[in-house]
Amino acid sequence: MTPTSREIALPGGQTVRIERVPQTGAGLLPWSAADEYVLRTLAGYLGEVPGGASDEPADELADEPAASAAETAEVRTSPAPPAVEPGEGRPLVLGDSFGLLTVALALAGRRPIHVTDSALAQSAARINLENNGVDPSVVTFVDLAQSPDEISDPISLVVMKISKSVQRMKYEIGWVRTRLTADTKVIVSGMTKHLSPNTRKILEEHWGTTTTSRVHKKSILFFVEPREFEMNEKLVSSVSYSVDLGLAEPAVLESFPGVFSQDRMDVGTRLLLESLPEELPKEATIIDLGCGNGILMLLLKLREPSLKVHGVEDSFLALASAERNFDEHNVEAESLEIADGVESFEPESADWIVTNPPFHAATALNMEEAARHFRPAAKVLRPGGKLFVVGTHGVDYSPVLRSIFATVRSIGKNKRFRAFQCDGSRFVRRDGFERAAQASAAQTTPPSNATDTTSPGGAKPNTANPEPVNENPGSVDGQS
Ligand SMILES: C[S@@+](CC[C@H](N)C(=O)[O-])C[C@H]1O[C@@H](n2cnc3c(N)ncnc32)[C@H](O)[C@@H]1O
Repeated sequence: MTPTSREIALPGGQTVRIERVPQTGAGLLPWSAADEYVLRTLAGYLGEVPGGASDEPADELADEPAASAAETAEVRTSPAPPAVEPGEGRPLVLGDSFGLLTVALALAGRRPIHVTDSALAQSAARINLENNGVDPSVVTFVDLAQSPDEISDPISLVVMKISKSVQRMKYEIGWVRTRLTADTKVIVSGMTKHLSPNTRKILEEHWGTTTTSRVHKKSILFFVEPREFEMNEKLVSSVSYSVDLGLAEPAVLESFPGVFSQDRMDVGTRLLLESLPEELPKEATIIDLGCGNGILMLLLKLREPSLKVHGVEDSFLALASAERNFDEHNVEAESLEIADGVESFEPESADWIVTNPPFHAATALNMEEAARHFRPAAKVLRPGGKLFVVGTHGVDYSPVLRSIFATVRSIGKNKRFRAFQCDGSRFVRRDGFERAAQASAAQTTPPSNATDTTSPGGAKPNTANPEPVNENPGSVDGQS
């Protein structure tokens, strides 16, 4: 049992324990009220025990009035969720953050198909299946960068969590709908705060007739009767934009829908790029942690072709976008891989790590999520290696960075973001540590707005007089 796991009673009467993966966000549940609503709606399908904890008449679920005006501008409410009685095919679960729905369906003998864009969500489902005594091989795992044709079995039920990104929601609809028949039942679930006012309209336009449940604990369900479709390539196509960073010509970048900052360069990413030392180290090994569509490392590689760049990502669609962008620019990355941060790199193997780090866990803005990557990053740096990181003013990375690096220098800021250069990893060899401090002092020409937060001598973190970085908290840009 860990502080990030919780127990829940399923409609079938069984109690399961679900773990958050990674184990951050203690105090946050590893599921949402929308997941509970789905479980209750599917009680019959899951083998509900009469008189069990979740054996409530559907009407009692409607314990809150219909959603607020903004949330229901387009919503028709039904008095109670329609009975969902899928046929003989398999259920497909799309966007199950930590695996509760997958575990419940597998325990009921339904052999779910788990579809996600996140490698961590895949790991979470596997871990939670095993922890609850289910062999993960009963579940088919497919990611959103794969073709839906990977799924050969008929689908009788789709349970899909509404994505925060409308573009991603459309992609998911486009991706999944070719696998459905007119008999497939579809439940789309979400928390009302994540709804676009057009959610129902989008479901109607791209999928089929949609009815809506009442709001229950700030969650809502949409019941879709899918029409039969051809693949609509437009929904699943990448989008492109161009950025001018003083290269010979503007670079054109592509992203699959819902990838971080899919249609423009993120303001924080731009600040980080503009704050890096003007002269890039020749033949250096650089890791882009959370590389998204590859923009940071691709632009560095275009500026200095001798660099050996590696990208790591959690999102399958982001990595597919990065691969496409490298191909389109005829440049090669040393590696582009799905990984949890820098876990797959040897200690002391990189010269630089650059990152606009992941700052969300599930949907919450979360300092812990970025911070858990900094320590492993410090171990992967060679003696003299540097971490370059950008963060919003709303999330202050500097105290944790100072506990890991001898020198944390603010090298750029704007209204919403601040970029740091971190030298002198506490995890590299001692001689390297000293070299790092000297090299940093001698070689780096910081931009004119740079501020040194190193304590005298560069050997200890400046904990006595940390530089304030929270004077102008800003909102986050896009999603991670
Ligand atoms: C703030 S975005 C930056 C993306 C890109 N570098 C850019 O500047 O546009 C953070 C990225 O980290 C990815 N990510 C989230 N968790 C991760 C993890 N555990 N390991 C690797 N990447 C992760 C997200 O999918 C997202 O693409």
